[in-house]
Amino acid sequence: MKEVTVDIKATKSSKYPIYIGENLLEKANDLIKENCKATKLLVITNEKIDGLWGDKLKLENAEKFIIPDGEKFKNFETLISILNKASELRLDRKCAFVAFGGGVIGDMTGFAASIYRRGVDFIQIPTTLLAQVDSSVGGKTAVNNDFGKNLIGTFYQPKLVIADTKTLTTLDDRQIKTGFAEVVKYAFIEKTCGENFGFFDFLSKNIEEIKKLNLKFIDETVEICCKLKASVVHKDEKENGLRAILNLGHTYGHALEKCSNYSVFTHGEAVAVGLQVCFDLSLALNLIDENYYDKASDLINKFEFNLPEHEYYEPEKLIETMKFDKKVEAGKVRFVLPTNIGEVKIFDDINKKILKEILK
Ligand SMILES: NC(=O)c1ccc[n+]([C@@H]2O[C@H](COP(=O)([O-])OP(=O)(O)OC[C@H]3O[C@@H](n4cnc5c(N)ncnc54)[C@H](O)[C@@H]3O)[C@@H](O)[C@H]2O)c1
Ligand SMILES: [Zn+2]
Repeated sequence: MKEVTVDIKATKSSKYPIYIGENLLEKANDLIKENCKATKLLVITNEKIDGLWGDKLKLENAEKFIIPDGEKFKNFETLISILNKASELRLDRKCAFVAFGGGVIGDMTGFAASIYRRGVDFIQIPTTLLAQVDSSVGGKTAVNNDFGKNLIGTFYQPKLVIADTKTLTTLDDRQIKTGFAEVVKYAFIEKTCGENFGFFDFLSKNIEEIKKLNLKFIDETVEICCKLKASVVHKDEKENGLRAILNLGHTYGHALEKCSNYSVFTHGEAVAVGLQVCFDLSLALNLIDENYYDKASDLINKFEFNLPEHEYYEPEKLIETMKFDKKVEAGKVRFVLPTNIGEVKIFDDINKKILKEILK
């Protein structure tokens, strides 16, 4: 079992472990007891995950609440149903909410925990690759509303994260690839995260084993990604600066998801194209040389992110969508762009003519 520590610099009380390894569901009861004083647990999951892995997760003093599966249920209605369930069970402030599932369950359970009785303990047991390398770490919680994705939420750190990589073996190919897009992203930002694990070379060298889900390599991959994310949120929990680099590939990715009404691409598929757009843009702006461009494009290609059939989106429409970023001045388009192996910088006003050329 591997262990990574998240230590939020600004709030000294927020320090928690991420446990990574195979068959950790069986050890979850002990790991929770070691790290959380809660006397009663409420496990939030869905039918699918419960059916596949529920019998391996045997927790003492736990109640289970099943919510519907899918991003379209990441809303206030489901959030309220979780809060009502907790009230119905008369759970007091000494309880903890356990998110057992992917990013949808993790984001919603964390939000519910942050507001139930003004905040109760929260435990993450992520079961998708995306959730293990990204969403379960760092404390962003959210629901969607009619105006967009993740617009309502809190920053609320879990007490611990238990990433059982064995659970990844039941994910389908599309869900695995969605996680791989976030994984490969870390290879392009690791030095700016403040670390140097040689993740780019690690991925390039072991890509075939990783794609086959050889858990020895997957465990190490999840560990490195968690260390990199931990390193960023240590320095910038609330995205006042550095944390924005985690959005490499997401400016374009989000625009693509939005233009297609969130119904065509998985998040990772959109991010994978977004990563390539960033490299195209960096090369066009002379921020990187051709050697790095070729190496990076090659690594992205080796993951074989196939896009589902979709309509053509006009570059103008995509660029208009990209302008909707709360943190950037009106009319400007912000991109995180590669500048060297493992290094990126944030550019707040991208030349739209060059961008348009690339999007064609
Ligand atoms: N909080 C953050 O920092 C952060 C970061 C990235 C993404 N997110 C959020 O995460 C969500 C996406 O997460 P996701 O990709 O995990 O999607 P998801 O939670 O919808 O899970 C994808 C599908 O896989 C199923 N599933 C889960 N575990 C499984 C398993 N072990 N075997 C088989 N099927 C399984 C789920 O039931 C679901 O149908 C989005 O809502 C996004 O906004 C949050
Ligand atoms: Zn993402």
